[in-house]
Amino acid sequence: MGLGPLWKLRAAAPAAESVVAPQPVAAPEVPASAAPAGDWDGLAAEVRDCRKCGLCAARRQAVLGVGDVTADWLFVGEGPGAEEDLRGEPFVGQAGKLLDNMLAAIGLRRGDDVYIANAVKCRPPENRTPEAAELDACRPYLERQIALIRPRLIIALGRPAAQTLLGGEIKIAAARGRLHDRGGIPVVVTYHPAYLLRNLPDKAKAWEDLCFMRATMGRLKAP
Ligand code: URA
Repeated sequence: MGLGPLWKLRAAAPAAESVVAPQPVAAPEVPASAAPAGDWDGLAAEVRDCRKCGLCAARRQAVLGVGDVTADWLFVGEGPGAEEDLRGEPFVGQAGKLLDNMLAAIGLRRGDDVYIANAVKCRPPENRTPEAAELDACRPYLERQIALIRPRLIIALGRPAAQTLLGGEIKIAAARGRLHDRGGIPVVVTYHPAYLLRNLPDKAKAWEDLCFMRATMGRLKAP
């Protein structure tokens, strides 16, 4: 399946500047924070017991997220799949292996300055795309995670994540390669790892996106 070390940092890797100038793009109206964040224990308990949409019916467990709760990097996927539903951790299946490789390619590691969450916390049946109402019902949990973590940069993995973070209709091909803004936090949009497993030629674009996000973080951390 080609999940090996497909991306390697090289001295000659394209700098983000050569990809696109990172000018923030105004996003549709998105509230900076819709509700007080509360604390992680309270949030975890609410998500565990959540019945706000129909996805609770078939889940084994809700999957809140994993990683460093003070991370600079927040990666947001779509929703748990079968394996994530079983293990209670996001991105632990095939797409997760690719995500780990993508992180490694830019010197990152799950749990180390990285937090991984999903747009919806419960597995959509048959791994279908979450519906708008399900994304809406779950969005406050993601907002609270963002408020608690206060990441420097958010990475939207795929369309549902981009739409829940930025609002409106998003096409990845049009949204990638530039900075968006979500309540003052920059957002980079890229392909979902599961999509990349099915569309190998787009891995080159994903590599550009990885370089772009790495350079963006460098800029955000610059004194
Ligand atoms: N795909 C996602 O979007 N999230 C996961 O946790 C696993 C697969």
